[in-house]
Amino acid sequence: MKSVELKKDIYWVGAVDWDIRNFHGYLTQRGSSYNSYLIMDEKIVLVDSVKHYLYEEMLERIKQIVDPSKIDYIICNHVEMDHSGSIPKIIKLCPNVIIVTSPQGEKGLKMHYDTTNWNFHIVKSGDTINIGTRNIAFLQTPMVHWPDNMVSYISEEKIIFSNDAFGQHIASTGRFDDEVPYSMLVEEARKYYANIVLPYGSQVQKVMEEVKKLDIEIIATSHGIIWRNYIADIVRLYDKWSRNETEKKAVIVYDTMWESTKKMANAIKDAFEDKDYNIHMYNLQGTHISDVMTELITAEYICIGSPTLNSSILPTVAAFLAYMKGLAPKNRKAIAFGSYGWAPLSIKEIEETLTKAGMDVVASEKINFVPTEVQLKELTDRIKKVI
Ligand code: FEO
Repeated sequence: MKSVELKKDIYWVGAVDWDIRNFHGYLTQRGSSYNSYLIMDEKIVLVDSVKHYLYEEMLERIKQIVDPSKIDYIICNHVEMDHSGSIPKIIKLCPNVIIVTSPQGEKGLKMHYDTTNWNFHIVKSGDTINIGTRNIAFLQTPMVHWPDNMVSYISEEKIIFSNDAFGQHIASTGRFDDEVPYSMLVEEARKYYANIVLPYGSQVQKVMEEVKKLDIEIIATSHGIIWRNYIADIVRLYDKWSRNETEKKAVIVYDTMWESTKKMANAIKDAFEDKDYNIHMYNLQGTHISDVMTELITAEYICIGSPTLNSSILPTVAAFLAYMKGLAPKNRKAIAFGSYGWAPLSIKEIEETLTKAGMDVVASEKINFVPTEVQLKELTDRIKKVI
């Protein structure tokens, strides 16, 4: 339970959540962390806190450095309770502390907690506070991830406290990007972007414009690993993802009852294979919807299949469609497909949902009961013609 020094007198004092596997619907198979930071200057500053059930862990780390009653400022970059959840607890130890937050942050905190005796200092983009030898500047980053979000930057140290931006759900004893396997780190950053940040691409673009102007040596995220060696990589990736840039890639996702829809999925795969697409195919019986989203963020095509069940679609496919619609990937082409018995209603439902989600549905394919080899070959040929 050690605190970790990032730069002289600036410490990670967060908490590691080894057990969490579901983060509002997102499968976090590697756990997560909630990163709070302690800055020791003439004024003592805590940047963000941790989920309420890990308060003691954060407190223990703070106590290794300073008596918590001496904290002068708590910066709340984001109200969501994974970061603000321990503020009501620690504030009891430092009742005169000043909570520094955005206007929406103040509103949000007041709607989450009894803030009757809290002292607020409200900051907007461009505002700074002096804490002695350093100044902390603030930049509001609305919708990355909530309306209240902001980031904090210390120019003297070239550190940005980015809160949700650039995070990953990883539980680890390694704190820095050069202390964990690089491919795992990028994979988890991509999954995090796809499942948390994806709806807010245009807002991320605005933030990236500002971030690119800053001299940054450390990106101190609020989840997972701190970036120091691969800053250029993650900035480039965020730029790409937030532009909705796609690759020559097709994601095929389906569920199946008697394997007819699975056979259709394979026939569609053959068409993309023939055209040299990078293909990711998922049966939703064994794949979590958040893992499908990870591949979808750079896919040119999304193909979704379900047989017709009780005049509708299979529940797994319904769940995926609802989840994907909320995350709103843009500029994608889509294919709906499925088998049916007496009424091809699943295909119609998938097509309608994809259209409502703003996708360009280039094909809608249905096959009655069990496809023959000839029908599957014809399906492959039809798809080859439209992609
Ligand atoms: Fe990690 Fe939007 O909270």
